[in-house]
Amino acid sequence: APSVGLVGWRGMVGSVLMQRMQDEGDFDLINPVFFSTSNAGGAAPASAGPAAGDAGRLEDAYDIDTLAKLPIILTAQGGEYTCEVYPKLRDAGWDGLWIDAASTLRMADDAIIVLDPVNRDVIDAGLARGVRNFIGGNCTVSCMLMGLGGLFKNGLVEWGTSMTYQAASGGGARHMRGLLTQFGTLNGAVAAQLADPSSAILEIDRTVLQTQRSPELDASQFGVPLAGSVIPWIDKDLGNGQSKEEWKAGVETNKILGLGGDAGARIPFDGLCVRIGAMRSHSQALTLKLTEDLSVAEIERIIDEDNEWATVVPNTKEATLEQLTPVAVSGTLRIPVGRIRKLEMGPEYISAFTIGDQLLWGAAEPLRRMLRIATG
Ligand code: HSE
Repeated sequence: APSVGLVGWRGMVGSVLMQRMQDEGDFDLINPVFFSTSNAGGAAPASAGPAAGDAGRLEDAYDIDTLAKLPIILTAQGGEYTCEVYPKLRDAGWDGLWIDAASTLRMADDAIIVLDPVNRDVIDAGLARGVRNFIGGNCTVSCMLMGLGGLFKNGLVEWGTSMTYQAASGGGARHMRGLLTQFGTLNGAVAAQLADPSSAILEIDRTVLQTQRSPELDASQFGVPLAGSVIPWIDKDLGNGQSKEEWKAGVETNKILGLGGDAGARIPFDGLCVRIGAMRSHSQALTLKLTEDLSVAEIERIIDEDNEWATVVPNTKEATLEQLTPVAVSGTLRIPVGRIRKLEMGPEYISAFTIGDQLLWGAAEPLRRMLRIATG
């Protein structure tokens, strides 16, 4: 079995990744070598692999010589680690496969964004021509393409716009805790009035707003309160009116699909990215202009048949409430796509709403699947 260096396995994305790898028996196919940025020499996790019980010691994640002995390194440690360690490894002559969750290398010419149910052809062509860097895509982009990949792959999308409803987990574990703490603080501020059915709602609302605006509410993670509010800006300000998250939507979608350059014209894809108080599933409302006037039934068939995870939710209130919410999706690999209908603008214009667990298809799953491809 090939040795695979695992870095960043203890963080939130890393933990989801480890769990998925165990669930799918991935550890039976590799010889895992666990690294740590802070606890080298400590005990490696014992639950992984056939050698369970003797998992050995944690290696130092900054030790280039040790890393360079491995044919494959998979990291969910984050962008700073990638910036620090990756160039040194290549400078040392390492030519192994680098599989990474961080965005650092995504748009580099010598990197492929992995989402194999959508772009297995791009991945295989990359491996064949010696590409060594395989990077997980932005969570929102990956979840969108898992849902609507059928339309994109078949050249049916002329352009698209997505308005996102992104969960707190996209900011990290501390942001999820921060959100829940805020909900608690707000509840606490009005608990007595809430318990009294005859209390005045406008008085409750005033107290909540006061609390949201007061230093009593810990808004340190997102900078402003998220509980009971929304934040229509995610990631850096690019200075041109666009957030970095919005820029990623367009460039990554096209890169994953292998479009632009010789392979075919880019699909314009743009929109606004918004943080909301959901926990770990990203939602997005899409408007697509299709290249032809397909029936809704045909559109649904193409989406549903594209991959085993994309599932069409009938466009009824009942089905939407039952199947098309972050609460219904979180913790599963399902990518429901609903609210599909023709818009008033014309027969080629459709709406859709899709949701994906940001930690599964949005982060861990494409990486573990790439590891399978690389070791298969
Ligand atoms: N940038 C994403 C977010 C994280 O903030 O939701 C995953 O790419």
